[in-house]
Amino acid sequence: MNTMSEKQIPLLDLQAQHAQIREEVLAEIVRVVDSQKFILGEDVKKLEAEIASYSGTKYAIGCASGSDALMLALMALDVHPGDEVLTTPYTFFATAGAISRVGAIPVFMDVEEDTFNLDVSLMEGVLTAHPKVRAIIPVHLFGGCADMDPIMKMANERGIPVVEDAAQSIGSEYMGRRAGSIGKIGAFSFFPSKNLGAYGDGGIMTTDDAVLAERLTALRVHGRTGKYFHQWIGVNSRLDALQAAVQFRYLDGWTAGRDRNAGHYRTQIAKLAIPVIPAKPAVYQTRHVYNQFAIRCQQRDGLQAHLKKQGIGSEVYYPLPLHLQPCYADLGYEKGDFPVSEKLAAESLALPVHSGLTVEDIDYICESVRAFYA
Ligand SMILES: Cc1ncc(COP(=O)(O)O)c(C=O)c1O
Repeated sequence: MNTMSEKQIPLLDLQAQHAQIREEVLAEIVRVVDSQKFILGEDVKKLEAEIASYSGTKYAIGCASGSDALMLALMALDVHPGDEVLTTPYTFFATAGAISRVGAIPVFMDVEEDTFNLDVSLMEGVLTAHPKVRAIIPVHLFGGCADMDPIMKMANERGIPVVEDAAQSIGSEYMGRRAGSIGKIGAFSFFPSKNLGAYGDGGIMTTDDAVLAERLTALRVHGRTGKYFHQWIGVNSRLDALQAAVQFRYLDGWTAGRDRNAGHYRTQIAKLAIPVIPAKPAVYQTRHVYNQFAIRCQQRDGLQAHLKKQGIGSEVYYPLPLHLQPCYADLGYEKGDFPVSEKLAAESLALPVHSGLTVEDIDYICESVRAFYA
């Protein structure tokens, strides 16, 4: 417990969010438990239809987590052991972990500073140097889409499928198109801290392709296509009825709150001339959903400690880029290989942006940041 500040503003306040919908959630829990139908079923089908429509795709297939959504996508696309998969080193571990779980090899490519996402100007060179790349996973980090048009163009020219890691970006838009509707498959997470969080782990995959949808639907239940009949070797990765139950109808309201808060941060940071760079959507990020509001700043660790004393929660996403993780030492990457990712790892700090914040909360946070640099 912080003893130095009366005010407490956590990075994420799930308790407050839950308080708004508690009665409804408890009623749903009772309904699901009384039904004794816990796995897949009508509740999951309903959510799948809602997410497909929300994401602008024909199909959505629920599964047990965002990590599994990525892995199942690679399995459905026939990515095999020894194949290479291109992605960013500046992401949550699960992106690369999914590649390794199918026996494939992550090939990392640096990101751009302003969006934290893949730097598409590097892509032609990386694809030429890596002819064994069999899939590309752009991550829509923090709620903002990667620059998808050039990625799709280069991928399509080579016949390489694209899996969008939209774990942090449900409802986000690239030039008016929803995350998860641009590549072959979109992968989403319902981890509780995501914009659409569940009451445990959960995930979903989106696609427009009927064949892939059928395959994903089978792969999440051991590759089963009929009773005790297994067309493929799949896994057990099913979505629980409970996880599908309530929160979806609140998503757009919560997202609007995040957007309003991000806008207020930018206004205050400019007005007070605070020497940090706030997250700002690129022109093509026509809807940013701010799963995180990341600033770039000097003396980041000092600022974080200062904010903590003021009762303000913040988080470093991500302190060690994936090419420098011990488990990937055998890939042969070295410090300095992805300078932008390494710079962001040292300079980025996520501030509270959840919809429960008031204007006064954000003013207090901005004033605290300003005081640190004064
Ligand atoms: C970018 C990214 N990809 C994948 C995942 C994996 O999702 P899950 O935690 O649901 O497995 C996450 C979630 O933390 C994520 O942030």
